[in-house]
Order: sequence, then structure tokens, then C-alpha cells
Amino acid sequence: MIQVQLPILQTKDELDSWLRQQKNQINFVPTMGALHLGHAELIKTAKKIGAHQSSVVLISIFVNPLQFGANEDFEDYPKNLMNDCQLAKKYGADAIWAPNYEDIFPYGEKAYFKIKAPSTLQNYLCGATRKGHFDGVSTIIARLLGLIKPNTLLLGEKDWQQYIILRQLVNDLGLPVEIQGIATVRDSNGLALSSRNQYLSKNEHTQALALPRALRKACKDFKKHQGINLKEIKSSLEKNDLKVEYIEILDKDLLTPVQGTKSISLLAAAVTCGNTRLIDHTFLMTRSPIVAID
Ligand code: PAF
Repeated sequence: MIQVQLPILQTKDELDSWLRQQKNQINFVPTMGALHLGHAELIKTAKKIGAHQSSVVLISIFVNPLQFGANEDFEDYPKNLMNDCQLAKKYGADAIWAPNYEDIFPYGEKAYFKIKAPSTLQNYLCGATRKGHFDGVSTIIARLLGLIKPNTLLLGEKDWQQYIILRQLVNDLGLPVEIQGIATVRDSNGLALSSRNQYLSKNEHTQALALPRALRKACKDFKKHQGINLKEIKSSLEKNDLKVEYIEILDKDLLTPVQGTKSISLLAAAVTCGNTRLIDHTFLMTRSPIVAID
């Protein structure tokens, strides 16, 4: 085990020995690295969960090959372990687990059970085009949870479909872990933080801002007129040189087209800006959310 400021675990033995030493509750933040302030929020929240705030936060860094399609960016996915370790330490993590492929699948992935995510949750949004993506995400999360057995699993809500699928994975398999979603973190211009944002040139970053802008406008229009025009939103994105993969209104939990009137539904979009695929979403509400103040 290398000791650089905080434990960086690699093998299963190193993980097991670290787990055996822990006396407090373990809150787990799975990542694929390239950490940013969105991950910082997950780690900060993870630190606060548990009795007397005495929990430990373990983050994993593993670029999971099972969730990338043949023409996707698996090979190019940003990797900088040392930088991630420094950021993880700064954000408050207690340990990092950065396994190799062989540490996760010692006998090769074909020797292990795979999870098939429910088709009803994958018919729309990213699931419609990224075939097998959420099966790969579900498989790796089930495996990581099995190896770590954390008390809490923290996930960013930026990928809302991933969050909903993993929430159901935990429920359906009765996995003994609490799951907590953390709202999307945005940069000062409103762009949802993502590890892939580092692919964007300055000019593309400016173009990409059309996406959160369109979602914000849709929210306002929905409140005013109880409806929005998806075609208009699509063309406003295209005018900013964004290629629209989808823009859809769905039931926020079932991820199917909304039946009848709902007081809250999901508006989600995926666009390509240059060569970078970006996703974002918002919730359409007919009235402002009720804020409880205590
Ligand atoms: O959202 C991610 O970074 C990944 O999909 C996850 C949850 C770490 C699984 O590889």
C-alpha cells in the first residue's frame, strides 16, 4: 500500500485490511476519477452522515470498462490518480480505493455475474442510445458494494437515470446500504460539473451554456403556461451549435412518458458540443417547491 497523505488502496487485500481497521460507519462515493467540485459535494455530505459525524469516507476510482460502448471514450477518459488523491484529501475523503481491472475481476469479467437493469428504466434518455451502459454501471456498483459493504452509497443526481436505476438496484436486491442522491453542482455560469467538461475548449464551454440556459427557461415557461414546446427548445440548442441527442419530458421516477397531469416531472437532455457529450436535467413544476424552514 502506498501512503501518500491518505491511504491509497489498490488490491482487495489492501481494501480488506483497511476495512477491518474501521470502527465507524463507512460512507462510499464511487467515481471514475477526474474529480471536481461535484465530487467535493458528495464527499462533504458523506462526511456528515452518521452518528456524531464520526463516519469515514471511502472513494473509489475505477474507470469501468463495462459501461463504455465500442465507440465511446473509455481509452481517452481523463486519468490522473495523483491529482485525484490530492483533491480527495482536500475534499475530506479518508481513503481512496483505486483498483485495477484484475483487482475487480481477477478471473476476467466473463467469470462474474452481470446485472441487467430493468428495460422500462432504459427505454428513454441515455439508455435508449447507450445500449448496455446501465447494465455495466449496475454490475460494477453491485460488485463494489459487495466488496466494501458500506453503510451509505452517495451518488450525484446529475445522471438522474443512473441514480434512479441504482436506487432500484439497491431496493430490488435488498442490498443493505442507504442510498443518497446529491443535487447537481454547477459552475458559476450554470454548466453542470462533469469530468468530461475538461474536453471542452473555451469556445465550446460558452456554447455549452445554452443547455442549462434552455432548461432554466423551460422551467419558468412551464410554471407560467403549464406547458413547454420541446421543438422550440431543441432548435434553441441547435442554434448554439449543440447537436441534440434527446430532449424528453418523463415521469421522474418511472422514466416513462408522463401520463396525465403531474405536479412534477423530469425534463432531461443530452447534447454533443464539439466532440463532447453533455447531459443535464431539471424538474418541471407547476408551482414553486415547498421549502421547510426549521
Ligand atoms: O457516475 C459515475 O462516475 C459512474 O457511472 C460510477 C457510478 C462511478 C460507476 O462506474
